[in-house]
Amino acid sequence: MIATLDGGIQYKGDTGALGYPGDHALMTGLRSLADLVVMGAATVREYDSWPDGAPPLAIVSRSLDLDFDGGLFDDGRTIVITAERAPADRLEHARERADVLVTGDASTDIGAALDELARRGHRRFLCEGGPRLLAQVAAAGWLHELCLTLSPMIIAGGASRILNGPDLDVPQRMRLIHAVPDGDYLFTRYTIE
Ligand SMILES: NC(=O)c1ccc[n+]([C@@H]2O[C@H](COP(=O)([O-])OP(=O)(O)OC[C@H]3O[C@@H](n4cnc5c(N)ncnc54)[C@H](OP(=O)(O)O)[C@@H]3O)[C@@H](O)[C@H]2O)c1
Repeated sequence: MIATLDGGIQYKGDTGALGYPGDHALMTGLRSLADLVVMGAATVREYDSWPDGAPPLAIVSRSLDLDFDGGLFDDGRTIVITAERAPADRLEHARERADVLVTGDASTDIGAALDELARRGHRRFLCEGGPRLLAQVAAAGWLHELCLTLSPMIIAGGASRILNGPDLDVPQRMRLIHAVPDGDYLFTRYTIE
C-alpha cells in the first residue's frame, strides 16, 4: 500500500498520483514473492490485463460486475471469490472463465475464503487492497505483514486510509522490520508482533 504523509491513499480518486517508478518496481518485486495476489473488485476494475510472470490474481466481488471476457481472465488462472447472493447469471459466466470460490451469504467471509485458499495449497498471499478489502483481511486476523510506502505529499480532502472498515476489536500492534528511504519516499515493512 502507498499513502501520503497525511494518510490518504489517493488524490481526487487517482492512486497513481502518489506513486513513482520505484514504487511500481517494489510492487513487482513483492508479487514475485507471493503465490497469489488478492484484490478487491474496485481496485481490479482499474486493470485491464495481468502481467505475464505475476502470480495468479484472486478477485473479491459480490456484484461480479467484472469483464469476464477481458484480459484479466485470459490465462485461465484467475480466482473469483464471491458470496451466495451473487447474481446467478454473472456467477455462471464467472464459472466459465475462472475458478470460483463462494463463501458467506450476503458478502464473502474473507477469513473463510483465505482459509480455504490456504487449504488448497496457497502459502504466500499478497493483498494489494483496496482499503475496504484490507480492513476485512486485518479483521479476520490475516494481515501478518504490511508493506507501506510513505509518499512525500500532503493532500487533505477525504481520501480513505489504507484500511477502510469498522474499528478492529483491538488495535493491532506491529513491529518495524525495515524503513528504506528512496529519495523522499520511504519504504516500510511491518510484521505482527
Ligand atoms: N494507495 C494504495 O496503496 C491503494 C491500493 C489499492 C487500491 N487503491 C485504490 O483504492 C480504491 C478502491 O479501494 P476500495 O477500498 O474502495 O475498494 P476495494 O477494496 O478495492 O474493493 C471493494 C469491492 O470489493 C468487493 N468486496 C470487498 N469486500 C467484499 C466482501 N466481503 N464480499 C464480497 N465482495 C467484497 C466488492 O466488490 P463488488 O462491488 O464487485 O461487489 C467491493 O465493492 C481504488 O481507487 C484504488 O486505486 C489504493
